[in-house]
Amino acid sequence: MIKLAALLCAMLLGTALEPNRTPDLPQATSAPPPIPPEAIAMTNPFKPNPEAQKHARQIYGYDCALCHGEKGDGKGDVGGKYKLRNWTAVDSLKDKTDGELYYIIKNGNGIMPGEAGRGKDEDLWNLVVLVRSFGKCTVTC
Ligand code: HEC
Repeated sequence: MIKLAALLCAMLLGTALEPNRTPDLPQATSAPPPIPPEAIAMTNPFKPNPEAQKHARQIYGYDCALCHGEKGDGKGDVGGKYKLRNWTAVDSLKDKTDGELYYIIKNGNGIMPGEAGRGKDEDLWNLVVLVRSFGKCTVTC
C-alpha cells in the first residue's frame, strides 16, 4: 500500500513538473496545413540585402503579382477570383512562420504554382522577406 502511495506521489509530481507537455500532438488550428513541423520551424539562412530584395521584387512582379497584387493586397488581375489575404494589413500573416511561407512559396498551395524549379533557394527566402515587408508599418500604425 505504501508502495502504491509512493508511486502515485511520484506520478503526480511528475505531471506537476511538466505541465502541458504534449509535443507529439498536432497544433490545433482551424485549417491545419499539411506542412511538416520541421518545415514550419525553418528560418531564413540567408541575410537579406537590397540587391537580393530588388531581384525578389522582379520575380514577384512576374510570378506573383497577377494573383497577390503589386502591393501584396491580394487584388491582382486574377487574384480577385480567390480569397487572398491582404498582406498590407499589419498582422495579416502573424499566424504563419517564415518556414510556412517558404514552404508554400516553394511547393505551391492549391491553385498557386510552386516556385521550386524556377528560383534559387535564396530567391525563395527573399520572397518570404518581401511578402512580410508588405505588412510592415511604414507610415502610421
Ligand atoms: C494563381 C494565383 C497565385 C499565384 C500566381 C501565386 N499565388 Fe500565392 N497564393 C494563392 C492562393 C490561392 C493562396 C492560398 C490562400 C489561402 O489559402 O488563404 C496563396 C497563398 C500564398 C502564401 C501563404 C500566405 C497566404 O496569404 O495565404 C504565400 C506566402 C504566397 N501565396 C506567396 C506567393 C508568391 C511569393 C508567389 C509568386 C512566386 C505566389 N504566391 C503566386 C494564389 C497564387
